[in-house]
Amino acid sequence: MNEFSIDDIEAVYKVIAERRDIRHFLPDPIAPELLDRLLHAAHFAPSVGFMQPWRFIRVSDSALRASIHRLVEEERINTAHALHEREDEFMRLKVEGVRECGELLVAALMDRREEHVFGRRTLPEMDLASVACAIQNMWLAARAEGIGMGWVSLFDPAKLGLLLGMPMGAKPVAILCLGHVEAFYPKPMLELEGWAKRQKLQDMVYENVWRNTHTTTETTAVKQFAITPLSGALSDQLQHKIDNKTKPLGALGKLEVLAKKIGRIQNTLSPRLREPVMLVFAGDHGIAESGVSPYPQAVTGQMVLNFLAGGAAINVLARQNGISLRVIDAGVNADFSAHPELVHAKVGKGTRNFLHEPAMTAAQCNASIAKGAELVKQEIDNGSNVVAFGEMGIGNTSSAAALMCILGQFPLEACIGRGTGLDDAGLIRKREIIQQAIASRSVGNDAREALAAFGGFEIAMMVGGMLQAAESSAVLLIDGFIVTAALLVAFKMEPAVLDYCVFSHQSDESGHARLLRHLGAEPLLNLDMRLGEGTGAALAYPLLAAAVNFLNDMASFDSAGVSKKAQ
Ligand SMILES: Cc1cc2nc3c(=O)[nH]c(=O)nc-3n(C[C@H](O)[C@H](O)[C@H](O)COP(=O)(O)O)c2cc1C
Repeated sequence: MNEFSIDDIEAVYKVIAERRDIRHFLPDPIAPELLDRLLHAAHFAPSVGFMQPWRFIRVSDSALRASIHRLVEEERINTAHALHEREDEFMRLKVEGVRECGELLVAALMDRREEHVFGRRTLPEMDLASVACAIQNMWLAARAEGIGMGWVSLFDPAKLGLLLGMPMGAKPVAILCLGHVEAFYPKPMLELEGWAKRQKLQDMVYENVWRNTHTTTETTAVKQFAITPLSGALSDQLQHKIDNKTKPLGALGKLEVLAKKIGRIQNTLSPRLREPVMLVFAGDHGIAESGVSPYPQAVTGQMVLNFLAGGAAINVLARQNGISLRVIDAGVNADFSAHPELVHAKVGKGTRNFLHEPAMTAAQCNASIAKGAELVKQEIDNGSNVVAFGEMGIGNTSSAAALMCILGQFPLEACIGRGTGLDDAGLIRKREIIQQAIASRSVGNDAREALAAFGGFEIAMMVGGMLQAAESSAVLLIDGFIVTAALLVAFKMEPAVLDYCVFSHQSDESGHARLLRHLGAEPLLNLDMRLGEGTGAALAYPLLAAAVNFLNDMASFDSAGVSKKAQ
């Protein structure tokens, strides 16, 4: 039995199909009875446990509206920066109706939500889903009434909460612009503007089991790299130039080796370092739940915030040495708001626990590699020719150790270290866990397979980034143990990547010295450091600058009229 007429039913579907997110409004106000009907529609929404977590604040004060507009504007600019190459496109098409619309509402989550556990014990975010149901009810009712509505979510919730006098625990989730319109867009505005298209429904409905529809899409395709091994073409000329500087032969020691290497990478007798950049990739690891680190997983996200606040060791060292810093959320188990130095590239909220299952799917692994490559390409297109790699991820020495053991064919003991400071018992547990994980997975020494089984999103992104940097003939500045483990993976895929690497330091994490030897690497520094973050690489950068400077600026015997050693 259905008490709705065919016309009723058609009207519902019509409203759903023709609802639009509206950003252009006429200035006319909305009649109070009409606004009341819309609020009632919202209030009839379903909610988990019938908790009704929505609260609406009507903004009638024009000074308050102006302040809200400023907040949105501020975040719009931050989001645009975070989008990098799509920044201009975003700024062009991003219009909001905050100032112009007839009625402005803020939809918020109520405070004291923790008291409602019904239906939220495993999925606490169901309160937000319930508010979204209320907003959608209002959106559909507004469309039926011929009223336009736009959902604005680009704002800092803490700042908006403060403006509106919200109590602790309450959170604004939407600024809703409502008003009369000249016309409803025929399609979503972002589709009209060419930003994105509606995807096919059949690609989003599965039967019985999840179907991966992305295997052939750009992000999950296996990215290939073409790295040219360094030729010996300029070697002799570079050596000649170095030997003719006003110093005894070889007296600048390893700086000479470094100068020659950079000259060969750049294929010039007068190399230059431009726009050095430090990419710190951050990711969480499922293995952390097995107790392989003395720190809880939450520290990864907290350290990302520390990087963004400028207070971590890498901030200090990068600043000191004129290196730009980018923090990449490759897969941290925390959400971050937009920040000019943060690149949102989350592949997942942490990998799975590799003790029980592969850390990531092949698609995630490929997507991470492709993303790392894309980010490095962006830096290179922006003028950088020195890319330093750093990382942060609680549990990632375990991933690095497993990769070293499998791909370097080392006994596991040689690869395991204390990480952030495990005691003896912790070290034994870590070894047992990794041993068990390796034994339970039949991974050969295929680099991609091992990376997916034991790696981390930050490690996989570094692999892609390194391969891209080498393909683009940049200098790769390699940090400590985890970064070198990522390089080992990259090396197994494309051995020529090594030609482009400068090894900054030997970390105190046991395993690093051996891994460096395996790669034939001679690190520039050994300061007993074991911090990660790219700190070793940032410290070594001035040595690269010194190498290039002496090669370019130091007088030769001829130019200075200094006699050479008697033959
Ligand atoms: C949760 C959510 C947040 C949104 N935030 C914004 C926003 O901050 N600014 C904006 O212009 N549009 C925002 N939108 C609108 C979407 O861009 C819009 O719904 C989408 O492009 C589809 O268009 P349509 O609503 O016209 O079908 C948001 C939509 C939703 C559901």
